[in-house]
Amino acid sequence: TPAAPATGDHDRPLVVAHRGASAYAPENTLAAIDKARDMGFRWVENDVQRTKDGELVIMHDDNLKRTTNVEEVFPGRAPWKVADFTAAEIARLDAGSWFSPKYAGERVPTLAQYMHRVSRNHQKLVFEFKKPELYPGIEKQGLRVLRETGWLDKHHVKSKLVIQSFSADSVKTVHKLRPDVKTGFLGTPSVTELPAYAKFSDQINSPHTSISVGYVAAIHAFKGPHGKPLEIFTWTVNDAANARRAAGFGVDGIITNTPDVVRKALRDN
Ligand code: G3P
Ligand code: CA
Repeated sequence: TPAAPATGDHDRPLVVAHRGASAYAPENTLAAIDKARDMGFRWVENDVQRTKDGELVIMHDDNLKRTTNVEEVFPGRAPWKVADFTAAEIARLDAGSWFSPKYAGERVPTLAQYMHRVSRNHQKLVFEFKKPELYPGIEKQGLRVLRETGWLDKHHVKSKLVIQSFSADSVKTVHKLRPDVKTGFLGTPSVTELPAYAKFSDQINSPHTSISVGYVAAIHAFKGPHGKPLEIFTWTVNDAANARRAAGFGVDGIITNTPDVVRKALRDN
């Protein structure tokens, strides 16, 4: 049976569940995006890295230790880097118990598994290439998986997907390979640097602690590669006061571990 659709994409600013609803379910798992869906959130965020045998998986750290039981399952394999394990090995790990016994047995999803679930949930995605400098060619490979899972269909590509990275080179590569895809640069370039970023990036996604009303206005004053004003999705805002502050600056999106707290703060404002 199909999953009930998530309903919430009417928030302004948009509310994006960071690594899924990661305050309530283990980050970057299918459970975390299902949790966001069940809470009524359409937008989710993830992190993508590559295994030893070249499979793309959903994981924030470049190390498996913090969010899986890798030390128990593979005790002799320190320092437990994602890139030192095969996809089959990673598929054996428990990515839920560290968070709560309730999520015991939750797995590290492959990118393809993850994209199928985002589709099934009728969700939209802020997709991050994490540490792409460790994984040469990951942009081309990631785009191939997105195409194969139906995510680069020209009618919807701009309304439901943003590909972002802290690496400007990675964002440039994505823009070059697929100029139709919306992109985001993670960081806080100076205002004088913004025109250079606006050539390949539709969004400038800065930490909420580094922005001001003037900076947000400066971002909006430039046009991105698709001829629309640059946008800003700020992160990671997990409390009402900072959510209202960011919204007051005019940001386009708020990336949060607690999407319910942010939505309530925006509605009660
Ligand atoms: O989406 C923005 C945010 O996720 C960037 O930081 O370290 O949580 O991936 P990080
Ligand atoms: Ca991220």
